[in-house]
Amino acid sequence: MKALVIHGPNLNLLGSREPHIYGTLTLDSLNEQIRSWALARHLQVTFFQSNHEGALIDRLHEGAGTSDFIVLNPGAFTHYSYAIRDAVASIGIPVIEVHLSNIHSREEFRARSVIAPVCRAQISGAGSMSYMLGMMAGMHFAGGALHDGTEKEK
Ligand code: DQA
Repeated sequence: MKALVIHGPNLNLLGSREPHIYGTLTLDSLNEQIRSWALARHLQVTFFQSNHEGALIDRLHEGAGTSDFIVLNPGAFTHYSYAIRDAVASIGIPVIEVHLSNIHSREEFRARSVIAPVCRAQISGAGSMSYMLGMMAGMHFAGGALHDGTEKEK
């Protein structure tokens, strides 16, 4: 099974960006953590990060043809990008929205996601674990085995 992990704007600055909120893990270390978690579960994973809305949309379109599911952290686009929402709604594979921080416990504008209604699930506030939980949900929705002997329903 193949997963695509997409990180949106400012996530390239992880490690130094507001560490009291986002932690001290860099994007490279986060991706390494996700990669080793995935490898242990026979899951291939590809990563993409961009600060640009159009590039994220292009990658979502491409991902639909090359991945079984997508784990997406849209960054601040979460809260206002109808274009990313439309891209997610247009592709036929499961998309799981993830956030490092708990967007429901922060500023009011962060509590609303315009993208979550077209995602299969939203996971928020578990730090780097949000991505792993997102991958588990993606495998579940894509109909794969979790390699714990349990075949998940489609
Ligand atoms: C974020 C939450 C967003 O509100 C913020 O704009 C981000 C990161 C998170 O992972 O917690 O860039 O998506």
